[in-house]
Amino acid sequence: MDSIRIRGGKPLYGKIEISGAKNAALPLMVASLLTDETVTLSNLPHVADISTLINLLCQHGADAKMNGQNDANGCTGGRTLAITARNITSTEAPYDIVRKMRAGALVMGPLLARVGKARVSLPGGCAIGTRPMNLHVSALEQMGAEINITGGYMDAVAKNGLRGAEIRFDTVSVGATENLLMAASLAKGTTVLENAAKEPEITDLIKLLRQMGADIEGDETDRLVIRGVDKLHGAQHRVMPDRIETGTYAIAAVITGGRLELTNTEAGLIRSVLDILIEAGAEIVITTDGLIVSRTGPGVRGVDIMTMPYPGYPTDMQAQMMALMTICDGAAMITETIFENRFMHVPELARLGANITVHGHSALVRGVNRLVGAQVMATDLRASVSLVLAGLAAEGETVINRVYHLDRGYERLEEKLAACGADIERIMAV
Ligand code: EPZ
Repeated sequence: MDSIRIRGGKPLYGKIEISGAKNAALPLMVASLLTDETVTLSNLPHVADISTLINLLCQHGADAKMNGQNDANGCTGGRTLAITARNITSTEAPYDIVRKMRAGALVMGPLLARVGKARVSLPGGCAIGTRPMNLHVSALEQMGAEINITGGYMDAVAKNGLRGAEIRFDTVSVGATENLLMAASLAKGTTVLENAAKEPEITDLIKLLRQMGADIEGDETDRLVIRGVDKLHGAQHRVMPDRIETGTYAIAAVITGGRLELTNTEAGLIRSVLDILIEAGAEIVITTDGLIVSRTGPGVRGVDIMTMPYPGYPTDMQAQMMALMTICDGAAMITETIFENRFMHVPELARLGANITVHGHSALVRGVNRLVGAQVMATDLRASVSLVLAGLAAEGETVINRVYHLDRGYERLEEKLAACGADIERIMAV
């Protein structure tokens, strides 16, 4: 398995182009199963989860073509993907794919809506929590699906097709909202989703579905009204910028005391993160295609955070902010309310000298004067990148093992950081 070696302590200066959002791209790709025409998505990120999902869609019978030119900097092309699911030849989403990438389970709603059946593996738990599927299952049942869970699979049929329903989610779920939005777009009658997620990735999915002919009201609110249509058609759509990648590099600028310009993105997508960074002592300048982030003084102030559904502080930025708070003046209380086990980075940050005490869902971070490089192990995507950020700030050498997690969601991370002065390299496993 590859690892990443960082020799820390260098302020980062330069420009980083933000990629398209993985967490938007995955549901957008799944939406292609709703039509026999071609859905073309541009600004796709080059990350492992995208290839995994292409494999799954092809197993369902879709044809996927990657186009695009290499750019002037020699960056790989192939950011435009045309998916045509003319015929659905298999309705099974196998364990091998869904256990690696739970977004695979999003095919359940579209397959039920289009062909009336789906057999989808339960994703199982992961490093950040148990992550059940009950909200997806119960909402699809309310739309007329019969779902049996046996042998680790959700076997779903909708003999008479899906019909509109009034659904209230007990918990705000990004995935369940996406699954139901897609299913309801092709159902008979009107579906109302109450307590729906409002994440920008949901808004991006609604934009594509609308272009495909769906009738949806209520974007950016927690009440979505979807009037089902008989047929959806092909469309073209540009994937929104990755707000979590944007926030991660914003923290890279602040933790190293440097200045980074982030392009091809929108500051408005990470308002809650920028508010905390400003309180912590960062300066943010909004530009026409992104933002410039720098640190105003020598230190970082401790600021408390609590993760919440959008527009609150994102759980996917919790580990990165914790890395920053390890070197703050004073202390910071970090509370995780979305996932029950999302502090796996704490013992690894402690190996670099961080002083963190976990009490249930909260972690008290007492700032230390310096972090010192060590060997650490990545446990999930955002935990991994928090170790990269801490390694950039630490004195000496940090080696992060098991970096395949990073490759699932950060495109060319070491190249982007090295271009801004980081001493970082990938050590390929032999
Ligand atoms: C999406 O996961 C993201 N993944 C996650 O990003 C992100 O952390 C999460 O939303 C929250 O913002 C993708 O978009 C591919 P949820 P998702 O359903 O949809 C509970 C990353 O690092 N729940 O909104 O799976 C669940 O256990 C990843 O990029 C149920 O109880 O998350 C959690 O506590 C990790 N029953 C809460 O809801 C259900 O049926 C929110 O989860 C579904 C969810």
